[in-house]
Amino acid sequence: MPQALRLGIAGLGTVGVGVAKIIQNHADLMTARAGRPIEISCVSARDPSKKRDVDFSSYEWVADARDLASKDNVDVVLELIGGSEGLALELVKSALENKKHVVTANKALLAHHGYELAQIAEKNGVTLAYEAAVAGGIPAIKALREGVAANRIDAVYGILNGTCNYMLTNMRETGRDFDVILKEAQEMGYAEADPSFDVDGIDAGHKLCLLSAIAFGTKPDFANLQMTGIRKITPTDIKFAQDFGYRIKLLGIAERTKDGSIMQLLEPCLVPVTNPVGVIEDVYNAVYIDGDSVDTVLVTGRGAGEGPTASAVMADVIDIAWGIHIPTFGVPVEQLKDPDWMNLNDTHSHYYLRINVLDQAGVMAEISTILRDLQISIESMSQHGRDPGAEVSIVLTTHEARHGDMVKACEMFAALESVVNEPCLMRVETLE
Ligand SMILES: NC(=O)c1ccc[n+]([C@@H]2O[C@H](COP(=O)([O-])OP(=O)(O)OC[C@H]3O[C@@H](n4cnc5c(N)ncnc54)[C@H](OP(=O)(O)O)[C@@H]3O)[C@@H](O)[C@H]2O)c1
Repeated sequence: MPQALRLGIAGLGTVGVGVAKIIQNHADLMTARAGRPIEISCVSARDPSKKRDVDFSSYEWVADARDLASKDNVDVVLELIGGSEGLALELVKSALENKKHVVTANKALLAHHGYELAQIAEKNGVTLAYEAAVAGGIPAIKALREGVAANRIDAVYGILNGTCNYMLTNMRETGRDFDVILKEAQEMGYAEADPSFDVDGIDAGHKLCLLSAIAFGTKPDFANLQMTGIRKITPTDIKFAQDFGYRIKLLGIAERTKDGSIMQLLEPCLVPVTNPVGVIEDVYNAVYIDGDSVDTVLVTGRGAGEGPTASAVMADVIDIAWGIHIPTFGVPVEQLKDPDWMNLNDTHSHYYLRINVLDQAGVMAEISTILRDLQISIESMSQHGRDPGAEVSIVLTTHEARHGDMVKACEMFAALESVVNEPCLMRVETLE
């Protein structure tokens, strides 16, 4: 029997426990799939006395996770702690420097330090793998980096955060407000006590940044990604979208423009229900790839959770067991380019706009005048509700317009006395 591949696992939470369960429950299958046994030799977490779903007592306990990087009985370090700085960063760096392969589920770490870590991995001839970091159990990295490697990628986009998708689905199905659904999602364990990573788009932004780097051979560049989350979405927006055959989805889109620059955005958009992405609901994620030879590829499934995420971690471990080595972002690090970002203000789209106003004479005319002066053409416009002097919503859609002009229009609406709070602006994405 060939020598076992020995793992040191840092982090025994949701993902770490899931990985241990697969190794313990499917030892024979893993050996067959990996061509050799896969063993856990050491584990580390914060609290050695914590009751866990799996018995870790037969493995060596390492009090300081950083020490896994230099253990002789560890071939691969699994970083399953999380966080873009501190312990996770130190551990991954020193493991790679000590010529140990690293598998991580940590998108924040890679979005912020992926380039530097890929350099260290390459210099030391080891693998830095992160299938679980993007869209959990969906083999999105493999699909993009290996499955369609023969293609020039023109676009990659998707639904990259299960919490937001669950909340938007629930808001649509029940007509309830964001705050109510968020509270419920927190009680059910779908959303964190501090939900900002999810609902403000940061988590999905981390993932988009990694997909974009692979798709276009660029350095991951999270600092230049603007993100808009889903806090502003109301039942009115969802109802309007539904009435016109759309669903609201938090979309990450990275696209190569005609002049070779890259357009990258992460924001809620209206997506037609006739598009496969429009019908991805609940906690499901989806990644859509557009390649010049393959045309379009859609991969979908569970984007988080113990089993799906552990499944992706083990896929990376099995590759390492076979000696499969693909550069971290698909090409050697020295070939990764600095992205040439397209200015989002110069992009064009159809738009949805909701403006909450005091119901009084002349408001519609003020709004129309601003749009006319900016040469934005209205496709439809309607007032939702009638309640003189009270707050009502004006909802409109535009023909194709320049983003910068739409932003300017929103600034001008916000300055009107009759406008109650910031307008809600969303792209209507045909995804064609
Ligand atoms: N959960 C998911 O569905 C999912 C999906 C995709 C990616 N990920 C990523 O996977 C990683 C792990 O997520 P998770 O959900 O498994 O997190 P988790 O349940 O919170 O577990 C984190 C683990 O890290 C340990 N830890 C925290 N601080 C530590 C420290 N200073 N020293 C040693 N150990 C420490 C904790 O120890 P104790 O148990 O002793 O407290 C715990 O075992 C994150 O990067 C996350 O973004 C998670």
